[in-house]
Amino acid sequence: MINIRTTTQSGIDKVDFTQLGFGNYISDHMVVADYKNGKWGAAEIIPYGDLLMSPAMLALHYGQAVFEGMKAFKMEDGRTCLFRPQKHHQRLNRSLARMCMPAIPEELFIESLIALLETDKNWIPNGEGDSLYIRPVVFATESRLGVKISDEYKFVIMTSPVGPYFTKPVKVKVEEQYVRAAEGGTGFAKCAGNYGGAFYPTQLAREQGYDQVLWTDAKEHKYIDESGAMNVMFVLNNVLVTPKLSTSLLDGITRDSILHLADERGVSKEERKVSVAEIEAGLKNKTLTEAFGVGTAAVVSTIQTIHIHGTDYPIPLPTENSFQLSVKKQLQQIRKGIIADRYNWLHIL
Ligand code: PLP
Ligand code: COI
Repeated sequence: MINIRTTTQSGIDKVDFTQLGFGNYISDHMVVADYKNGKWGAAEIIPYGDLLMSPAMLALHYGQAVFEGMKAFKMEDGRTCLFRPQKHHQRLNRSLARMCMPAIPEELFIESLIALLETDKNWIPNGEGDSLYIRPVVFATESRLGVKISDEYKFVIMTSPVGPYFTKPVKVKVEEQYVRAAEGGTGFAKCAGNYGGAFYPTQLAREQGYDQVLWTDAKEHKYIDESGAMNVMFVLNNVLVTPKLSTSLLDGITRDSILHLADERGVSKEERKVSVAEIEAGLKNKTLTEAFGVGTAAVVSTIQTIHIHGTDYPIPLPTENSFQLSVKKQLQQIRKGIIADRYNWLHIL
């Protein structure tokens, strides 16, 4: 049984459900649990709000902070589903292990999340393309200045009703100077530092008119890794091509889902090293017909321009029967319960 303390002052009246944007609103309640003396304590649901914390807490100094991003959807028949929560939980634990942080037991994760969704069920939006974004986060709370692995942590889950992360096709810049992650580093972990370190090059790219950076390998800047908040896919010579997983990129759950759907459709696909040179050649000779980013927040986001070595290469906007738009629709229909969930991706509440 999870202890639930409900708010006396709901913020839901302040939400404009017709124009949600991304991350602008946080729902009324949050899950909190503390790790002390070698174990996780019971999770509680409390009103969302500030927490009292020490400025010496280790997360702020040495970066032990890890998060997840997942979604709940309102289905056509009015029920609510969570998309692949076990897979997000497994990835959270892989990220935690990389950062020497304690695993979150599956029951703690799933049960507290379901209780939170039941408490804030009015916050799950129903509009086209809308969903409830779920942000679990774990961070080191021990207060001490010595450089050490923390002995204490806090686990929080908060939620936010959202629309699509990108509202229009994106322009990306192939990054040839800065690095997000190197092989053997923390790129595959969803740790806070990966995002903090990406801000500066992303800001430079924004100033030059691009929405996101397309990260390349740390050694040679020759191979594409992923984008700032999404994995990337291309249709090259009628083959769906995506960089293969490594320690320098995130094992995206949307990526995995789309690769399953490509198999189901009999689409040829390749998970392999993808060189900047072949993308550039494909853009020049028009054998690259689609480029898109995939992620929980980004869903399927069309890439309309790729900048490589000083040149902006445009890509024609996708048609209704392009791979990206049809797979986006299929994924949406699975989540809405309109078509069968053949892979048991939905956890229906
Ligand atoms: N890559 C990065 C760096 C991300 O932040 C995300 C978003 O979570 C993704 C890829 C896509 O992963 P997923 O589909 O699991 O959301
Ligand atoms: C997600 O898609 O969940 C992300 O984490 C991307 C971004 C909002 C950080």
